[in-house]
Amino acid sequence: MNNTELLMQAKKVSENAYAKYSKFKVGACVLYESGNTYIGCNVENGSYGLCLCAERNAISTAIASGEKSNLLSVAIYSPNTKLCWPCGACRQWFSEFENGQNIKVVLENKNGEAVEFSIDEIMPHRFELIP
Ligand code: THU
Repeated sequence: MNNTELLMQAKKVSENAYAKYSKFKVGACVLYESGNTYIGCNVENGSYGLCLCAERNAISTAIASGEKSNLLSVAIYSPNTKLCWPCGACRQWFSEFENGQNIKVVLENKNGEAVEFSIDEIMPHRFELIP
């Protein structure tokens, strides 16, 4: 699946976002080497600290579905004027996985402006659990 198709999936799932408090909807679609894709939207909670980001929702679904191949790309769509850059916690999640050095992050805003970055560009010096 190419970036345009991934972003289309991300856009579609952003409509399902449960963004009751911020009204800030986000959709994510993650692509694996197997060719499988998984979607997620943000899910907010009245106890604000429990809000779940779209990206981690999509990755959790991939893991729960038994996906074992490498994560290749994360597409993020948000119907706002500014691109929705992934938060620090999500960047750390992306970089956790086997192919963590090579993941692509693709973003699109409501005006159809899209950009692509490598994880290394947006998450240098990430934490690694190496004693
Ligand atoms: N949000 C995401 O879904 N992904 C991000 O990378 C940043 C923020 C969500 C969390 C919350 O529901 C809303 O955007 C506003 O912070």
